Amino acid sequence: MRARVLSGIQPSGNLHIGNYLGALRNWVRSQKDYECFFCIVDLHAITAYQEPAELQAKIRELAALFLAAGIDPKQSAIFAQSDVHAHTELAWMLTCVTPMGWLERMTQFKAKSAKQESVGDGIFQYPVLMAADILLYQAAIVPVGDDQSQHLELTRDIATRFNSLYGDTFVVPKTDLPSVGARIMGLDDPTAKMSKSAIGSGHAIALLDDPAKIQKTMMRATTDSNPEVNFETMGPGVANLLTIYQAFGEKTNEEMRAEFAGMRYGDLKKRVAGMVIAKLEPLQAEYHRIVAEPGYLDGILQEGKERAAPVANQTVATAKSRMGLYKSLATI
Ligand code: TRP
Repeated sequence: MRARVLSGIQPSGNLHIGNYLGALRNWVRSQKDYECFFCIVDLHAITAYQEPAELQAKIRELAALFLAAGIDPKQSAIFAQSDVHAHTELAWMLTCVTPMGWLERMTQFKAKSAKQESVGDGIFQYPVLMAADILLYQAAIVPVGDDQSQHLELTRDIATRFNSLYGDTFVVPKTDLPSVGARIMGLDDPTAKMSKSAIGSGHAIALLDDPAKIQKTMMRATTDSNPEVNFETMGPGVANLLTIYQAFGEKTNEEMRAEFAGMRYGDLKKRVAGMVIAKLEPLQAEYHRIVAEPGYLDGILQEGKERAAPVANQTVATAKSRMGLYKSLATI
C-alpha cells in the first residue's frame, strides 16, 4: 500500500501565490508517490464568522482551484471536511486526551485571540480538529506551509499520547515543508507572511487576479532604499520578490544571481510580474473551464467523499473500540 498524504486549506479569503508555492504545488507533486487526500476544511473556516452563501461559494471555488492547479481526481480525493462526519467525531475523542496547556501554547491561537475581545472555543480547539483531519487517514506525510509546523508537532504529540494510553492506533505523521517558497511574505509588508485574510489590495497576488492587477500589485511592492539588486545587502522586500521568481521559475541560486545582480527595482518588478502572470495563466484558464461545466464540481466532491469516508470511518471505529466506547450491533 502506498503511504498516505493529507492536507487541507480553509475555504475563506482568496487563495494566493503563497498558498500555491507553499502548499498546493507540493500537493500536486506528491500525487505520483502517495495516496492523497485533500480536504477543504470548512469546519475550520467557521471558527471565524463566514457569510453562509459566501462560504458555500468559496468551497466550490477552492475545489476548482485544486483541480486547476493539477490535483487529479482520478488519483486523489478532494472533499469537504464537513461532508465526512468522522472528522468531528474523532476531534472529540482527541479533545479528551489533549491537555489545555498544549493548546494554550499554540502561537496561532495566541495571535488570533489577542485580536479579539471574546475568543470562540472553536479557535482554541482548532488544532485538535486539525489533528483529527490528519490522523483519520493515517497520513504519513502532511505537506503544509511553515506556519503550520507547530500544529503538526501538536498532532504528533496527540497521536503519541493516544497510542500510549490506548495502544497503537495512529500513524505519527511527518511535516513536509517545501525548500524554496515555503514562506512568501506580504508584498506591502515583507515582514509578515502573505495571508489569505489580510485586507488591502497591495498585500497579496490571488491566484485568480488578472494580469493587469498582478502587474499593478507587483509594481507597488515594498522594496528598500537601495537602487538595485544587491544580494549581499538586500532587504526582505527584494528578497521576497526574488523568492517568488525563483520558486515559480525553479531557478538555482547561481541562475538568480546571474539574472538579477545589479538590476534596477523597476525592472526586477516587471520581470517578476511577467513570471507570475505566465505561470498563473494556464491555471486560470483551467479554472474557468472547470467552473463552466455544470455539475462537474459536485461530482468531484461526491467521489472524494466516497473515497475518504470509508478510510476515516474505519479509523473512528478502531479509536472507539480502543477507548471502550459503545459498539452497537448494526450500523445505520
Ligand atoms: N490549519 C491549516 C491552515 O490554516 C488548514 C488545515 C486544517 C490543515 N486541517 C489540516 C492543513 C490538516 C493540513 C492538514 O493552513
